Amino acid sequence: MERLQKVIAHAGVASRRKSEELIEAGRVKVNGKTVTALGTKVAVDDVIEVDGVPLDKEPLVYYLFYKPRGVISAASDNKGRKVVTDFFPEVDERIYPVGRLDYDASGLILLTNDGAFAQALAHPSKKIDKVYVAKVKGLPTREKLAPLKKGIYLDGRKTAPAKISILSADRQKENGIVQLTIHEGRNHQVKNMLKAVGYPVEKLKREKFGPFTLEGMQSGDKRALSRREVERLFPF
Ligand code: URA
Repeated sequence: MERLQKVIAHAGVASRRKSEELIEAGRVKVNGKTVTALGTKVAVDDVIEVDGVPLDKEPLVYYLFYKPRGVISAASDNKGRKVVTDFFPEVDERIYPVGRLDYDASGLILLTNDGAFAQALAHPSKKIDKVYVAKVKGLPTREKLAPLKKGIYLDGRKTAPAKISILSADRQKENGIVQLTIHEGRNHQVKNMLKAVGYPVEKLKREKFGPFTLEGMQSGDKRALSRREVERLFPF
């Protein structure tokens, strides 16, 4: 949600100050109703008119972002912490992240202003594989990880079968690196799955999201996705 005067100004109709005057003068409607309060918040799909003329719809944009650790997957944070959209100062569209990556996790995340796309991707029927690499405490063994391949109960609900491989194991340090592929997106799912079989996660990175990978990207990098790339995830 954004303040109405900001949205009008962003649409290029008038400056922020002039947009406030338009609102106070009763020349702005939101979903057919005249709005004169300056603090009014509007959502992306609200229809805004100035003097009876609808604002141009924002073009739909899609970005891939390599989220660093220590960044919140949201468009704003009430504790003033760094958020993913802070990395997009030049983007005027009101983008937000699709799904979440924990504050202390790094890796691939999509951002868009396309609500239908974001909703469709979040739906459980849309089984998009995500590949995570986790550094775990304890020496990982196939036997102990095996239950995750079939699914385990977390909060009374069984997880879908995961693909697991052990990338490395350090006997001396008693830790290891495990790769895990899942298509669900429950809260802290990978951490909770690994913890449940005896391996607390020390570090977590999402390396793949559907067809997209971190290849060629450094932490903090972003790139716009073409419509064709987006269609590989979600046919229009
Ligand atoms: N699983 C987690 O535990 N954390 C994430 O951020 C993503 C998946």
